[in-house]
Formats: sequence, C-alpha cells, structure tokens
Amino acid sequence: MAPKRFYVTSPIYYVNDAPHIGHAYTTLACDVLARFKRLDGFEVKFLTGTDEHGQKVEKSAATAGMDPKAFTDKVSQNFRDLAGAMNYSNDDFIRTTEPRHARACQALWQRLEASGDITLGKYAGWYAVRDEAFYAESELATDKEGRKTAPSGAPVEWVEEPSYFFRLSAWQDRLLRFYDEHPDFILPPTRRNEVVSFVKGGLDDLSVSRTSFRWGVPVPGNDAHIMYVWLDALTNYMTAVGYPDTDAREFKTFWPADLHMVGKDILRFHAVYWPAFLMAADLPPPRRVYAHGWWTNEGRKISKSLGNVIDPLQLIAKYGLDQVRYFLLREVPFGNDGDYSHRAMVNRMNGELANDFGNLAQRVLSMIARNCGGRVPEPGPLAADDRALLDQAYGLLDAVRQRMDVQAFHECLETLWVVVRAANAYVDRQAPWKLRKEDPARMGTVLYALTETIRSLALLAQPFMPDSSAHMLDQVAVAPEKRAFAAFGRAHALKPGTLLPAPAPVFPRFAEEEGVGKSA
Ligand code: MSP
Repeated sequence: MAPKRFYVTSPIYYVNDAPHIGHAYTTLACDVLARFKRLDGFEVKFLTGTDEHGQKVEKSAATAGMDPKAFTDKVSQNFRDLAGAMNYSNDDFIRTTEPRHARACQALWQRLEASGDITLGKYAGWYAVRDEAFYAESELATDKEGRKTAPSGAPVEWVEEPSYFFRLSAWQDRLLRFYDEHPDFILPPTRRNEVVSFVKGGLDDLSVSRTSFRWGVPVPGNDAHIMYVWLDALTNYMTAVGYPDTDAREFKTFWPADLHMVGKDILRFHAVYWPAFLMAADLPPPRRVYAHGWWTNEGRKISKSLGNVIDPLQLIAKYGLDQVRYFLLREVPFGNDGDYSHRAMVNRMNGELANDFGNLAQRVLSMIARNCGGRVPEPGPLAADDRALLDQAYGLLDAVRQRMDVQAFHECLETLWVVVRAANAYVDRQAPWKLRKEDPARMGTVLYALTETIRSLALLAQPFMPDSSAHMLDQVAVAPEKRAFAAFGRAHALKPGTLLPAPAPVFPRFAEEEGVGKSA
C-alpha cells in the first residue's frame, strides 16, 4: 500500500499589502484538507508563507519609505498573524528571504543551467510589475488613457535588458503529454482545458532573470542578474521539504507535493512553468494543482482603490471564526467565483449552523439531561427508521472522503447537512418528548441514535470548524483520543451510561438588531 502521506501548499503571499479575504480563503482550503488528512491517518505537511522578493515588493517598500528587509518583516508578520487568527494548522511558514530558500533557488538554477535549459540572451518585451509577468504584444489591450495593459488590467512597461532564458518552447510536447497522462493534474476540468489550449497555442522561451533591480536571489555565478521572482517563488514548495537535499527523509517523504492550491489568476505559473522547470531538472512535478475562483464583495470586484477590501479579522470579530470558515467553504461551489455579502453570511450562520445543526444538538442533549439522568441512554432493538438514520451517519466518512479528494468542499458540507436535516426530520417523526411517557425505553433508543449521529457529524465537521466541533464532541463525551477517523463508525459507538456534561449551545445566532453576534 502507498504510504499515507500528504503534502499541501498554499501560494506564498506577496508582502505588498495587508491580508484580505482572498488570501484567507486559499489557505483555509489547504487547512481543511490538511486537518482532514491528519484525522484520516496521514502524515501531513501543510505549508504557507510569504513571497517577499521582486519589483512589486521593492516598489511597495520604497513607497512606504522603508528598507525592503524591514518592510517585508513587518508585512510578513501580518500573514503569520492571520494564520493564527484563522486557526490554520500549517506545519511551516516559509519566507523567501530566508537563507534556506536562496540555497534551494540557486541549486535549482544550477541544475537547469547544467541541463542546457537556461541560457543567457537579451530580453525585449512587455512586463507588468503588478502581475510580475511578461506579456506578448498580442495579449495586450489599451486603456482609456491610451496606455497598454495586460489581460489582468495591470499596466505594462517596455523592458530591454540582458536576461537568462528558460527554454520553455522545448517543453510544449512534453507538457501536453504530461497533462494527457495525468488527467487530474489540473482541477477543475474547465481550468485544465484552458491550460491545455494555452500550451497548444505554442510557448515562448521565458525570461528568468532581471538586471534592473536588486531585491531577489542573485543568479549563481553572475550576480548582476536577479532571478525572476516566479522562479524564486515557485521553488519555495521544494525549499520547505529540504531541497536540494533530495536524499533526506523530508524530501523523500513529501516530494512530489500532493496539491498546490492556487487562485485562478496564478494557474499558468503553477501548471505550465513549474512542471516544465521540474521536468527540466529531472524532478517529479506535483500531483495536482487546483485553481479556485475569486470572491467579490456585495457584487463588486474587491480592490484597494474601490475601498471594499474585506478584512478577515473584522469578519471573525463580527460573526465568529468557525462561522467565517464555514461560510467561505459552503457558500460557493469550490472552483467557482463567489460573492460575499452580509446577508448571505447571516443566512448561513443562523440557518444552517444555529438552527439546523446547533438546535439538533441542543434539543437532543437537553432531553438526555432532563430525562436520562444526563447519561447516554441504553438503546433497545433498532427500528427501521433508527437503522436508516445510523446507516446514513456511518456512511458519511466514505462520502466525505471521496469529495475531499477532489477538493469539493461545498459538497462535503452539503453531504453532512443532508444528515443534519434527516436527523431533525427523524426527531420530529419520532417525537421523543411524547415517548417519554408512552414508551421510555423507545425514547432511549431514539436519543441514542441521535447522539451517535451528532458524534459522527461533529467528527467530520472538525476540519472545517475545529473549535465548535471540539465543543460538540466534548458534549457527547468523546475522549480526545477517539476523535480521529479511526474511531469513526459503529465499532466505536458511545457507551451507554456515559455521563455527559451539561449541554450548552455551540452555534450562536447573529442578532441583527444589536448588530453583533451574541455569544453562547
Ligand atoms: N505571490 C504570488 C503567488 C506565488 S506562489 C508560488 C501571488 N500572491 S498574491 O498575494 O497576489 O495572491 C495569492 C493568492 O490570493 C492567489 O491564489 C489569489 O488567487 C488569491 N486571491 C487574491 N485575491 C482574491 C480574491 N478576491 N478572491 C479569491 N482569491 C484571491 O499571487
């Protein structure tokens, strides 16, 4: 059997700006996967960090009147703080200004030079600092002021300077073959098709060094040149597993990465350039690149100039951490673009968390507290309705696992909520409050089936909402060592007679009139 290990990476964030909801989103998706895989018995490495070199960061530092090192220290810290505030479980936080990273970049460069894939030439063409990307004349448009712009809308400038080139043109066929042989390398499939047609359209050699600025990793043997920031940035994924020490355990265990999670805007770098660099260096490309969509705010593009940037810290303060985590991955089918709005946030938080899941637990656990001496009741013989609910609950792990493996986070949550709703319908049907007098033994069986359902749901909700799920698992007295998925299912069912703590609400409602979330 293949070893159970899983290496997932977020993009590394440019330190030109404060973190916003888009950044929080990409890393959250990685966090949920990392947590799921750990609970599922995998050895996991989850990497995030900051992309600190290049002209864009150099310019931002100059605008702030700061030395680039001091500037990057400061802004990188904001991303570290975000990781704490969002409760990410990353195992490492890489900064491209660290010595371990310069060493990895230079080693990769030397390999590419030795294989003849990097050679010195002269670049003349268009460059967009905002995207840190080169563009062909044919890709450009003209804005209202008559300036040439990239497809992203970023202004471009004409660059003419000596430059090293990566022989990307030579990799077209091998890339197409690679996509063919690995149909799941790029997800979702629509993005894969875009990449394949881009590569089929032909590839130009890629300029991989600049001489017009200094803030970056020097080219080994010719330090008039600074490495192109994307070659530098992409290498971070290998730096963090110890490259160039390819014989060390870390590298052997975790390379190739299982998943690079990225936004759709940076797919080309990850799905075209990066596998070409790696194949040229005779290293295996990652197993998958997933490109997710973009968030808008109340229907409008999020941008600093529109002044509508959403600060994740403010959302957390207003709605609660797990509510925000849940919303981001539930509201939008993962892969699509999505819109953030206060209304949508409150609907999810009050409807699905407080009413559906929260009330289910609250109803069941209060009935146990009042009528069963606060102990897990002893089940009698199971009726068809009880068995149907339990089968649905115990079937959740396989169902969620399958969807997690294709990064369908919204479907994972919907799968859980199908059971939440089924459990609520079952409570209404079975009416345990009536059984209390009519048939107390039957009431015990019903409450037992419900408690097991709540345990199953809370176990699987852990990757998405770690704190709230822990709180719910506390309430059904699941011991800490019984919270991994090895303890999922019938064989690890709650022991009748186990004393449960006094029930307390897990998911507060958002109280609109007060304008603040009421805490439980
Ligand atoms: N530094 C590069 C990545 C290098 S990875 C080797 C970079 N950084 S970034 O800070 O500009 O963006 C990082 C991520 O944030 C991207 O995946 C991008 O898609 C994501 N988002 C930025 N704004 C976003 C939204 N409005 N919505 C969703 N994600 C967005 O690119």
